[in-house]
Amino acid sequence: MQGLTELLFRRVYEECFPGAIERAVTPFLSLTHNLHNLLQSDGQTSTLRQYLRDVLPEANKGSIPITPQILGKEPDEFIALANKLYDMGYGEVNWNIGCPMRNITGKHRGSGILPYPDEVRGVLDAVVPRIKPLLSVKMRIGLRQKEEIRALVPVINDYPLASVTIHPRLGRQQYTGVPDVEIFGQVLPMINHAVIYNGDITTPEDAWRIKERFPGVADVMVGRGILYRPTLPLELTWGEGRVKDGFKTGEPMSDSERLRLTKHFIARLMTEIRNNAKSDESALRKTKEYWCMLWKGLPISEADARKVLREQELTAVDNLIDYFIQ
Ligand SMILES: Cc1cc2nc3c(=O)[nH]c(=O)nc-3n(C[C@H](O)[C@H](O)[C@H](O)COP(=O)(O)O)c2cc1C
Repeated sequence: MQGLTELLFRRVYEECFPGAIERAVTPFLSLTHNLHNLLQSDGQTSTLRQYLRDVLPEANKGSIPITPQILGKEPDEFIALANKLYDMGYGEVNWNIGCPMRNITGKHRGSGILPYPDEVRGVLDAVVPRIKPLLSVKMRIGLRQKEEIRALVPVINDYPLASVTIHPRLGRQQYTGVPDVEIFGQVLPMINHAVIYNGDITTPEDAWRIKERFPGVADVMVGRGILYRPTLPLELTWGEGRVKDGFKTGEPMSDSERLRLTKHFIARLMTEIRNNAKSDESALRKTKEYWCMLWKGLPISEADARKVLREQELTAVDNLIDYFIQ
């Protein structure tokens, strides 16, 4: 998730919950005009390192295993970037055709390409035979109408994809409304790839429910839930030995344990944001971005949580958060 599940977050997360997340898809790398030339140049320019900073293998060492994600539809740039990522050690890259941001969809990027199955085919035709890593896809059910996915299924079935992650909302919904699990269930048996479900998984029960209702689902991907309930991946594997619907589980994690782990994680994340921010302003902005979601894991009211967002001074924000997580 752009601006959220970036390297700093992933490193703190892995420190607090080692091994709990099997794999993270990175915030997208957007294809840019000069990328082809940049990658052709000498491979070590600072511009290139800056562009690739989130996926540099040395920086990701000891952190959550990642699959780099690509946003865009320009085949030459796509191929160059995917092969560069392969040379950096990534055996799989993910194509983002789900992003709902208007400045992106307008250019037929992200979910903006979903109403145009021929364009999707054009990209896959050009890219799949020429890239060294495996390709997986992350998509929504459509940009404007859910029927769009029906025309896309035969297209994606024609290519050897590592997996297809489906977030069953429309691009135009952004993050509002509820995922359309009906249409998800209808297209699931038509897809000949491993299908991963994504959308509104915020409790262990949400994950069980999806696995129970759709046994054909290969896995679930947690999005915002990782911030709402940082212990969620751990809860899905809590206690060894008992297997429920393909997941290992035991006794549910107690509320007090969940709270203890959540507070510790928030404290560590806040400290690292401070330690790594270029200025107090950027630390303040970043802290608030995370806090908008993280407070939901704490037993506090929305009104109290909003007090943090109203503060303009970093010290005041720090003090308030410290108070909530003490
Ligand atoms: C701020 C924000 C940034 C996101 N950035 C990305 C991204 O870079 N790549 C991606 O595949 N999905 C991105 N997503 C979408 C999530 O990965 C996920 O598909 C979506 O939030 C639905 O899952 P959820 O209901 O569990 O959050 C982003 C979501 C949010 C809220």
